[in-house]
Order: sequence, then structure tokens, then C-alpha cells
Amino acid sequence: MRETLIAGNWKLNGSNQSITELVGAIISGAKTVNCKVAVCAPYIYVPLVSKLVDDSLSLGAQDVSEHDSGAYTGEISAAMLADFKCSYGLVGHSERRSYHQETDEQVANKFNALKQAGITPVLCVGETLEERDAGITQSVVNRQILAVIDKYGIESLSGAVVAYEPVWAIGTGRTASPEQAQSVHADIRTLLAKDDNEIAEKTQILYGGSMNPQNAASLLAMPDIDGGLIGGASLKAGDFLAICQAA
Ligand code: PGA
Repeated sequence: MRETLIAGNWKLNGSNQSITELVGAIISGAKTVNCKVAVCAPYIYVPLVSKLVDDSLSLGAQDVSEHDSGAYTGEISAAMLADFKCSYGLVGHSERRSYHQETDEQVANKFNALKQAGITPVLCVGETLEERDAGITQSVVNRQILAVIDKYGIESLSGAVVAYEPVWAIGTGRTASPEQAQSVHADIRTLLAKDDNEIAEKTQILYGGSMNPQNAASLLAMPDIDGGLIGGASLKAGDFLAICQAA
């Protein structure tokens, strides 16, 4: 059985005060839910959240440098995140791929950097609306995942998390239907199973894109949806905890 993971992605939101309050509220509710709960904080609040989290809430980062150290102004390495007890790191979020022109290869290198530091990578993949309309959803998603497998091997996926996030559903209020999401998740598992059946069975595949307290239960009921990556709804403790309770 795969454990359900509900991870919040706060993106570019929060302050010392609002994050302290949000984490306090999430921790008090997270003690009674039946899933693993994590929040991905903006880098600058990682030390703050690191001091606040306990066994009921894990800390994640929203990105990482593909480099270990050196002349890379403004970047944060995986080892630095490990220093602040980050358990998870997002890589390849569509906002990084589109606004920062991150390539599949860079995303694969970031994925590997997290693995080397003992942090669980959350590999975000997903198609744009044009790609879905063109009928190439699965080839886009496969390409994004194979970039990691081809360079770092199927073993690198062991213990990692994949998040399927259709770009057209992120922050738009338009969610993939449970059936649409399930179909892509099942195809992702089939892709992994071609190389390693056990890794395919164990890998948590999260859905992300306008998941909220109203639609969470029906998405999470699908056999290959093992959790959620939550943007907007993770900024309100009540909404985020309601999604955790639906798991
Ligand atoms: P959303 O964001 O829940 O606001 O759609 C999800 C994400 O970008 O991870």
C-alpha cells in the first residue's frame, strides 16, 4: 500500500507572521489525519519552518540548484536544504519550466542533486492545454520522466515522488476530472513498470492543479492517485486540512 502524501506549495506567498500562524494551525490539525503532510516553503522561510515542524508535518523546498557549490549567485544547493531538515524538494514545477526556461535536463540534474543530499525529489510533470488538445499528453509526460531515467537510471526513482500537474489546471480553478487524472497516472506507472515493477508499484504519484476541499475526495479515491500537490488551497489551514482529511 502506498501512503498518501498531501504537500502544500506556497509559491511566492507568506510572511514571518502569516507562515508562523499557518504552520501552527496545520500542525494542530495534522496530528489527526491519515496521511503524510508536507509544506514547501519559499527558501527564505525554510529556517523558520524548519524550527516549527514536528513529526506530523514535513518541510519541503520549492526548487533547488542543480549545482553543489560555486559561483552561482542566488542559488540554493541541496546540501543547504538538508542542513535545514528539508525532507522534500520540488523540481520541474511548470512555473519554473515556463518562466525560467528550465529544460528537462536541468530538471533531471536538480532531481539528482536532491537524491544525493538525501532529500525526496518531487518530480513535477504535465502538459499544456495546447499539448492536451494535440493529443500528446502522454508523450510530453513520458519525455519529462524519461529525462530523469535516461540520465540517472530507474533506481533514481526509488523513493522519489512524481506529481502530475496539467498546466491548464494550475491556479485556474479548472481541475482534471478524476478519470482524466487517473488515466495519466496509470500510464506513468506503466512507464515506470517497463523498467522496474517494484519501483512502479511503490512510487507515490500525486495530482496537482486546483485541488480543493470539494474535489479532493473524488480525485484521491482513484487507484493511482496517491496524494496531492496543493497550491492556492494550501495557504488556508482550514482548506488544506480538509484536503488532508479527504485522504
Ligand atoms: P494550484 O497549484 O493548486 O493553485 O492549482 C498547484 C501547483 O502549482 O502545485
